[in-house]
Amino acid sequence: MIKTKVKASRNYTVITGRRLIGRTGKLIEEIRPFAKKILIVSESRVAPHYLARVKASCEKSGFEVYDYVFEAGERSKNINTIAGMWGAMAKAGFTRTDLIVALGGGVCGDMAGFAAATFLRGIDFIQIPTSLLAMVDASIGGKTGIDLAEGKNQVGAFWQPSLVIEDISCLDTLPEGVFIEGMAEVIKYAFIMDLPLYNLLCENTLGSLRSDPLLLEKVVGMCVKDKAHVIENDEHDNGIRQTLNYGHTVGHVIEKNNNFRLPHGICVAKGMGIMIDACERNSTLSYEDASNMKDLIKAYGLPVSDEITPEQAVAGAMNDKKKRGSILSVILVNKIGHSQIKNMTHKEYLEFLK
Ligand SMILES: NC(=O)c1ccc[n+]([C@@H]2O[C@H](COP(=O)([O-])OP(=O)(O)OC[C@H]3O[C@@H](n4cnc5c(N)ncnc54)[C@H](O)[C@@H]3O)[C@@H](O)[C@H]2O)c1
Ligand SMILES: [Zn+2]
Repeated sequence: MIKTKVKASRNYTVITGRRLIGRTGKLIEEIRPFAKKILIVSESRVAPHYLARVKASCEKSGFEVYDYVFEAGERSKNINTIAGMWGAMAKAGFTRTDLIVALGGGVCGDMAGFAAATFLRGIDFIQIPTSLLAMVDASIGGKTGIDLAEGKNQVGAFWQPSLVIEDISCLDTLPEGVFIEGMAEVIKYAFIMDLPLYNLLCENTLGSLRSDPLLLEKVVGMCVKDKAHVIENDEHDNGIRQTLNYGHTVGHVIEKNNNFRLPHGICVAKGMGIMIDACERNSTLSYEDASNMKDLIKAYGLPVSDEITPEQAVAGAMNDKKKRGSILSVILVNKIGHSQIKNMTHKEYLEFLK
């Protein structure tokens, strides 16, 4: 078991280990002894596997437990689902000392977190991420929110969880394709800030990660430490947190150009591949590092290129919500394990990608 402390506007612990969900009740009791009611928010693909166990554990610790299960998928990430959660809590008479538990992937965590941030102007919430992406990324750092018809994650709040319980055993039921998608974010940490993680990933394979729980726990734990480090230094995304956007500026445009039919992780991998090529062409990354990086992405079953043109990539980036004025913050990796934020005008960015 690995415990990582996150120091932010609210300090909390991320516990990464195996067979943890059966201990949910006890873990909550330790940090919130005065809570009475718990709303477990989950979704239709995760709930059949894990809801009963989490619920039983919370009930055993004496909590009054309610659940709210929505239909799995990004399409549910909207205000109607949030209204359902608010209504469930209001009906059950939740007070400020009660709390929400998010049991699911990033969609579930982002929404349960947003409901927690807004109900009674803010109640506590606990993350139990069940996808690889949610374990290494979405459940840590307090970005919560929903999508609008006009764009993804357009409404939300910074609201940190009070505890994150990462049970690696839950990844056993995660479909292979969704696991591979999560690997794009794992590889991202290796490239931008974690050479030991890069080496560990090179020494192993997708198969060994999936079949060796201790190895997987170690890899997830390393990513959690990386994310915690970033959050501690820049909770509100004004500096170093932007480095987590590596591969995402191009990736988001590819996602949009494909009407969100291509999964996020696939688009991020393509985005990283395009940035690697661009850095190599601009002589800011060695040929050796560039080919090693692309080999690693491919070794974990992910793509490294896309038909998107530099013009399309630049036009799409100009609409990105992360853009500040007319300047783009472009994340570059100039050496494996090190990243840099470079501010570029759209003209400079176009030159860079060409
Ligand atoms: N808050 C943040 O900092 C942050 C960071 C990255 C991504 N996100 C958000 O996270 C979301 C993507 O997260 P995701 O990839 O986890 O999506 P998701 O929650 O939709 O989960 C992906 C798929 O895996 C299934 N699933 C999850 N856990 C499972 C399990 N243990 N067993 C079987 N099936 C399981 C889900 O039902 C879904 O079909 C996006 O909405 C994105 O905006 C947020
Ligand atoms: Zn991402």
